[in-house]
Amino acid sequence: LGILASGYGNNFECIIKSIQSKQLNAEISILIVNNPNCLAIKKAIKYKIPYVIINHRDCQTRLEHDMLVLKKLEDLSVELIVMAGWMRIVGEELINRYINRLINIHPSLLPSFKGINAIQQAIDERVTITGCTVHYVQKEVDSGSIIIQAAVPIQDNDSKETLKQRIQKMEHIILPLAIAKVAKDIRTSFKDNK
Ligand code: GAR
Repeated sequence: LGILASGYGNNFECIIKSIQSKQLNAEISILIVNNPNCLAIKKAIKYKIPYVIINHRDCQTRLEHDMLVLKKLEDLSVELIVMAGWMRIVGEELINRYINRLINIHPSLLPSFKGINAIQQAIDERVTITGCTVHYVQKEVDSGSIIIQAAVPIQDNDSKETLKQRIQKMEHIILPLAIAKVAKDIRTSFKDNK
């Protein structure tokens, strides 16, 4: 696995724990972060996972950044990329090299509430059920085929923070399940192509 993260790294940590507990048969080759202050780095250090900072601010274009990320992943023969709180749009060059092998987790029941602030969007729309989605990444943001979803009811007294906590609890359940499912599909397609 190659993990891409921009934030706290709780989803990254849940993947690590699923591997440690043998719920998930996988190996993390690298954590790539796009900003030097990303707290996921601390988790990488704690669990002794190799990491690299590829700062998008050092790149002139999105393509240049994508290509640096892609090169790192390909150099390490990463088979599946997991965007675990990755707050950057990636372009077609990267997406096309990892078709059916690039997945993202998003804090809403897609196709509702795409883009940033998905949790606040759900609160503002006064929906009574939201959730989280793991999906394949395609060019249109938050639009690829859905792999697995979990529903989370919104309670009357929910703040953004309390709702986020319950959504993330569900994220940590569905992300390892989605990785296992996609990994199985990748293994099957490798065998079929032999
Ligand atoms: C997660 O809730 C994830 O769904 C969201 O960022 C959070 C990262 O948390 N991702 C997006 O909004 C992507 N559009 P983490 O850094 O603690 O894993």
